[in-house]
Amino acid sequence: MTAESDRPHNRLTRLFHAVIAVLVISQVATSQFMTTPGKNREEDLLFEIHELTGIATFFVIFALWAYTFVRRRGTRTGLLFPWFSGTARSALWIDTKHHLQAIRKFRVPEHVRNGSLASAIHGLGIILIVLMATTGVTWFIGMQLGDIGKSWAGAAKEVHEIFSNLVWAYLIGHAGFALINQFAGKQPLSDMWSLKKD
Ligand code: HEM
Ligand code: HEM
Repeated sequence: MTAESDRPHNRLTRLFHAVIAVLVISQVATSQFMTTPGKNREEDLLFEIHELTGIATFFVIFALWAYTFVRRRGTRTGLLFPWFSGTARSALWIDTKHHLQAIRKFRVPEHVRNGSLASAIHGLGIILIVLMATTGVTWFIGMQLGDIGKSWAGAAKEVHEIFSNLVWAYLIGHAGFALINQFAGKQPLSDMWSLKKD
């Protein structure tokens, strides 16, 4: 197990991550069974849970994003979002090639702390959840405004539905890779899933 002082992610990041993971899992779970309000349909309790936990996710994901700019320990913001820097993009390309080479040989890629590819994928996860939470909240506000808000509520709902498939893909891919890393001895889950003091 990683020594406390050697953890790649500090306690507040781990706390944010746990809250976001629990909220997002509750979002995708409720979305499967909830009844959305419609013409002759009343919303149910599951939908209310989806709304409330979604609004909570909105605040927590923006808080994590803002925190990446000021924290001393953890992945730098530039690594999470490498898209605007030529140097960061070339490092991402090289790291992607290393991963592909390992996968072609049926090997689990080496875990590198703050590796370019893993960090960029984590950043895309943040953007995806920001998008889901923002479209959800936009739909919610639009519906409160009656006729004026109906058209953008409808547009926000369309985007929300389209990107919801990516949330499933992200959750399965990201959590699956974390489990593979744990069992292949590359990175313990406790690097992220522990709330012990630093
Ligand atoms: C949909 C829910 C989830 C989201 C949005 C999410 C997002 C993220 C993000 C943004 C990071 C990077 C954090 C940072 O550097 O500040 C991260 C790291 C991590 N996540 Fe998740 N996560 C989710 C669920 C999970 C689950 C269910 C697991 C495990 C089963 C998991 C395991 C990990 C691990 C081990 C790391 C550290 C990876 C490393 O240090 O390279 N995550 N996650
Ligand atoms: C990160 C936050 C969120 C995630 C991950 C999420 C995820 C999902 C998923 C997976 C679906 C199912 C889409 C489908 O199968 O068509 C869905 C539907 C929906 N969500 Fe969210 N959601 C989030 C936040 C919100 C918020 C904040 C609201 C409103 C306050 C909201 C309102 C809705 C509505 C109205 C639908 C139903 C769309 C329909 O019936 O066609 N969501 N959401």
